[in-house]
Amino acid sequence: GERLDFRTSKQRLLVVANRLPVSAVRHGEDSWQLEMSVGGLVTALLGVKEFDTRWIGWAGVNVPDEIGQKALAKALDEKRCIPVFLDEEVVHQYYNGYCNNILWPLFHYIGLPQEDRLATTRSFQSQFDAYKKANQLFADVVNEHYEEGDVVWCHDYHLMFLPKCLKERNSKMKVGWFLHTPFPSSEIHRMLPSRLELLRSVLAADLVGFHTYDYARHFVSACTRILGLEGTPEGVEDQGKLTRIAAFPVGIDSERFIKALELPEVQDHMKVLKQRFAGRKVMLGVDRLDMIKGIPQKILAFEKFLEENPNWCNKVVLLQIAVPTRTDVPEYQKLTSQVHEIVGRINGRFGSLTAVPIHHLDRSLDFHELCALYAVTDVALVTSLRDGMNLVSYEYVACQESKKGVLILSEFAGAAQSLGAGAILVNPWNVTEVASSIGYALNMPADEREKRHHHNFKHVISHTAQEWAATFVSELNVTIVEAQLRTRQ
Ligand code: ADP
Ligand code: F6P
Repeated sequence: GERLDFRTSKQRLLVVANRLPVSAVRHGEDSWQLEMSVGGLVTALLGVKEFDTRWIGWAGVNVPDEIGQKALAKALDEKRCIPVFLDEEVVHQYYNGYCNNILWPLFHYIGLPQEDRLATTRSFQSQFDAYKKANQLFADVVNEHYEEGDVVWCHDYHLMFLPKCLKERNSKMKVGWFLHTPFPSSEIHRMLPSRLELLRSVLAADLVGFHTYDYARHFVSACTRILGLEGTPEGVEDQGKLTRIAAFPVGIDSERFIKALELPEVQDHMKVLKQRFAGRKVMLGVDRLDMIKGIPQKILAFEKFLEENPNWCNKVVLLQIAVPTRTDVPEYQKLTSQVHEIVGRINGRFGSLTAVPIHHLDRSLDFHELCALYAVTDVALVTSLRDGMNLVSYEYVACQESKKGVLILSEFAGAAQSLGAGAILVNPWNVTEVASSIGYALNMPADEREKRHHHNFKHVISHTAQEWAATFVSELNVTIVEAQLRTRQ
């Protein structure tokens, strides 16, 4: 029959995610400065405007004292954010350990850290216990702020245990869960000692969402093969309870980027950048300094390009803006030194007294600088080894209406499914292929650039973050009404 649509009313939405949109920096006993957090989840959710939203998440810092906690809660309240306080040991085991040393590499097909595989195996149980404990603490805060009728939208691999915690406390709560990373093949998921518990907890939600159809299919396979449940076209059924499972590809708030390009401060940044790199083509990489982004592979491909095309050496530059992330996790520390080493070697090899081929910055850029960079560069290089979606590719396209730059995009990013027709798709493991794609992009004639850009631009402006959230929440409401009708029958 006719689908119900709940989009018109301003519904209360509790967004629950490990990361808040702002991160706190302490300036004294009861004074805090809030800075924008970096990451796809924050970018997507900041674009969501049509709900009455409150955001519940980890404060991002250790605040052991009550005075500090109260002051921070007050500062966050102005941003409609509610902090979850986690002590240092829990953060170490839950965030650095279980989330970022186990789930993250596994969900991105990187596997468990090679060198300390045994140590990881040994500490597995205590880390999983901390993970569950942290999820319970999130559930406590949700419960405290929940009002009847609220939609509770849980996000990401940090909170796979949360749907179960919430439903156990209040079975009537409307609970959705969305994963911002890939969900891997069930053969990978089954390696996790906690594979059963994680799947069952997620299935306690009413609606489970993924970026792509493939990730959703992998999740359903994990439920049928590992839990022995029945998969239906709608989702997964367990003893008469249906959990809806579907794909909801995320987007960006494209208007925010397009409008920003008109701002005088962005125009100023653009002018400076154009002067700075006059006479050279500029290639751009913008990533968190994460092992999934394929940054060493990207730089090696650029080196190969220079090696094979010596005439380009003084005519092209790669700007790699890599914001440090998860710096307490050893794998990330190793990656940072590895990248610095490669950049240094290549600049030594191909640089001159007046110019170097790679500018590598370990920092984040503010929004205006970022928009300016996106707008003035000739090629964007996204070489993720795996990536849930990759919003940097969307942001680049949004800012390229006048220049029509080329996007080189890994086929292992979720975005390859939406921007594949306009981008040059590459396998980041194949350095030779990426190097020749760089050459192809730099030499691409204007009419081909225009056609490719137009294709992607159309997609980016019509599949926005607003649309993504509205569709998810609407589907969640519909799912619950349909479940109620089924039980009445
Ligand atoms: P992920 O969620 O894995 O970080 P995405 O590409 O989906 O990957 O999203 C990254 C977000 O973080 C984008 O909105 C991008 O603008 C922002 N970002 C990433 N690196 C930087 C950086 N160095 N400076 C500023 N913003 C960054
Ligand atoms: O989008 C993927 C993601 O893992 C988000 O979940 C997360 O907020 C972001 O990357 C940044 O990582 P972190 O929150 O660990 O700083």
